[in-house]
Formats: sequence, C-alpha cells, structure tokens
Amino acid sequence: MIKLEQLSIKDDYKVYEMLQRIGSCENEFKNTAHGISYEEYLEWLKIQDDWSRGENLPKDYVPQTIFWLFDDDVPVGFGKIRHRLTNYSREIGGNIGYAIDPYYRGKGYATKLLALLIDKAKELKVNEILLSVEKYNPASKNVIEKNGGKMISENEYRWYFSFD
Ligand SMILES: CC(C)(COP(=O)(O)OP(=O)(O)OC[C@H]1O[C@@H](n2cnc3c(N)ncnc32)[C@H](O)[C@@H]1OP(=O)(O)O)[C@@H](O)C(=O)NCCC(=O)NCCS
Repeated sequence: MIKLEQLSIKDDYKVYEMLQRIGSCENEFKNTAHGISYEEYLEWLKIQDDWSRGENLPKDYVPQTIFWLFDDDVPVGFGKIRHRLTNYSREIGGNIGYAIDPYYRGKGYATKLLALLIDKAKELKVNEILLSVEKYNPASKNVIEKNGGKMISENEYRWYFSFD
C-alpha cells in the first residue's frame, strides 16, 4: 500500500539509506541529508521537524514539511512542501519538490507522490502551488502534467506550472 508519512524525529535507518541513494542536488531538488553520517542524520531530523512548525528557521526561510513516500514499509522517495512561496522559490523550484530513490524510478511513484503532496499542501492551507522544472527534466514535466499542472510561463531554462 502506498502512503505518505510526515518526517519524524523517530525515523530510522531505512529512511537514512534512501536519502544516501538520492543525490545532494538533482535537477535543482536539494537533499541536504545526502552524505551525512547517521548521527548527523538524527540531528538533521530534529532540525527538519522544527522547521515544519516554523521554529528555528534560518533567515529568509519559510516553514517547510518533508514527507516520505512508503510502499508498504519501504521508503521509495520523498517530497518537500514549503508553506509559502518566496521570491526565490517563485523563480527556482516552486513550493513543492520531490525525488524518488533511483532504484525505484520509472515505476509511477513520482506521479503518485505529487498527487499526495498536493492533497497535503491543501490540508496545510497552502494557498498557491507553483512548480518549476528545468527543460532537461521531461520525466518531471510528465509527472506534473499527469497531476493536472497548468503551464503558466516558461523561459530559456524552465517551465512553470500552477495547480488549481
Ligand atoms: C523526476 C523523477 C521524480 C521521476 O520519478 P519517477 O518515479 O521515475 O516518475 P514516474 O515513474 O512517475 O514517471 C513519470 C513519467 O515520466 C516519464 N519518464 C520517465 N523518465 C523519462 C525520461 N527520461 N524522459 C521522458 N519521460 C520520462 C515516465 O514514462 C512517466 O510517464 P508515463 O507514465 O506517461 O510513461 C525522478 O527521476 C527523480 O527523482 N529525479 C531526481 C529529482 C528530480 O528531478 N525531481 C524533480 C525536480 S522538478
């Protein structure tokens, strides 16, 4: 069964291992847990948990919540929801990002993950959802279009999509 689980300070080694398989920055999606030790990961979880509640945020950051995509008890990817858009995220990335463990790509997981993230964003009362995709990432463009994203603009480097 596919489900979304919010990051918790109790997350374990399975999630840590997935985070090590996803690159630190793939197509502008940042995975700041890549390459850190397990002990650092336990601290990282606490920081992310704080940020989700808007606590101890670095300057200019907005609250953001991380969700793991599980297929049964296997973590296969993760997504990030920023609760508000900033000038930076309007230009690069938008306020929802996602990545799938390379081992599980091409199986439809990102399409399901984005659908669940959009539902969560609505629960979190995010009032505007914007995603940008680099023009050399057709897989992500497909994921967005299959979830009803509407292309609202483009430039030399990126397409921009909004959701109702
Ligand atoms: C982009 C990414 C999330 C896609 O994950 P995924 O689970 O493999 O995606 P899905 O299996 O749901 O496939 C989505 C669609 O893209 C298509 N696709 C996959 N790879 C493709 C490629 N290289 N070129 C064109 N389309 C591609 C799939 O065929 C599928 O469309 P279909 O169902 O109509 O066949 C994954 O590659 C990833 O994590 N990349 C690194 C991080 C990233 O780019 N995040 C998005 C930033 S905007």
